[in-house]
Amino acid sequence: MRHLRVPSQETERVLQQLKAASALPEGARVQTDPTDSEHRLIPIIGDQTPSIVEHYPVVDIEVQPPTARSYRDHLDALLPSDVVTSIEWPTRHEFVGDLILIKLNDVQRQYSGAIGEALLRQHPRTRAVFEDRGVIGTFRVRDLELLMVREGQEPTTRTQIIENGHYLWTDPATVYYSSRLSHEREGTLVCAEKLRDEVGRPLTVCDPYAGVGPSLLPLISAPNLVDELFAGDLNPAAVEFLRENINHPSVTIECTDARSLKDRPEMCGKFDLLLVNIPHDTLKHLPDLLPLVRSGGIIRGWAIIEHADFEKVQQHLNATFGSDAILDRRRSYSASADLCKFEAYKGE
Ligand SMILES: C[S@@+](CC[C@H](N)C(=O)[O-])C[C@H]1O[C@@H](n2cnc3c(N)ncnc32)[C@H](O)[C@@H]1O
Repeated sequence: MRHLRVPSQETERVLQQLKAASALPEGARVQTDPTDSEHRLIPIIGDQTPSIVEHYPVVDIEVQPPTARSYRDHLDALLPSDVVTSIEWPTRHEFVGDLILIKLNDVQRQYSGAIGEALLRQHPRTRAVFEDRGVIGTFRVRDLELLMVREGQEPTTRTQIIENGHYLWTDPATVYYSSRLSHEREGTLVCAEKLRDEVGRPLTVCDPYAGVGPSLLPLISAPNLVDELFAGDLNPAAVEFLRENINHPSVTIECTDARSLKDRPEMCGKFDLLLVNIPHDTLKHLPDLLPLVRSGGIIRGWAIIEHADFEKVQQHLNATFGSDAILDRRRSYSASADLCKFEAYKGE
């Protein structure tokens, strides 16, 4: 491609003049002359070159096509340019293992194949792209629609993720998993280690809403932290993943309703640490779970709380636990509510 070789300090002025004369290609990239760092090379197009060209030498250099910075750059090769420029393309997508999940509106959905293909071109380690049509049911799984799978690969939603150095199998179409809570799980490890140091022995832990087990792996991998761990979930698919992901002699896994555990005398007053992670229902389920914790044990849970109810919930938790609960806003959930975390010792 033809380029003008101009002294660096004149670059801006020449660019303006070329632009005014429509002699500057779309997305023109100015380069430093590789033979002389005091000069720049400016690409030019058109036969009707402006008079300014006469003042500078013209050199012919090979130009590498620009590398795509986003999946949207690949749409140019897949769709007519008037379509590419007229649609507002999705700006966000989520990676889950070797899958990409993306939300589409009705207009974008008409080009779902091209969006899937563009995402596969941009992300070589991605196996398949699915439209995420939202969360459904008590088990909070995703309604997924295949957009595109890489040639020769399986179009399944089963995938392996890595969180805080631990590998877990999951399937967003049949079980709940969110990487957004990984920081909370790091906090659970810190909380458990502190409690272990306080009581001076390995802990009994109960995670009755365990999902595919992301909270458990850090706990059982830490030396001398866990004596016994109960992991449950009501979703049979999550329990199958739990059995596949967690293979440890100190862990008992069951498919059961967390609220029914209190009906088993051997489970009552047994646990040093109880995790309550069912944010939409945590406050409703708490009374059924509390009998599982021994006095002086810790309850660590997450709940969606309306801004207006924050103080009321704080008082309610203090009364429920018989001790001061630490209630923190962790992130915004909606315009009027936050995802909050609480932690409290169970009083006598
Ligand atoms: C928000 S997810 C948390 C999963 C996991 N702790 C994590 O951090 O990824 C809540 C889990 O509770 C399970 N669940 C829903 N109702 C339940 C119940 N009554 N008893 C036990 N598990 C239940 C769902 O299947 C889901 O896996």
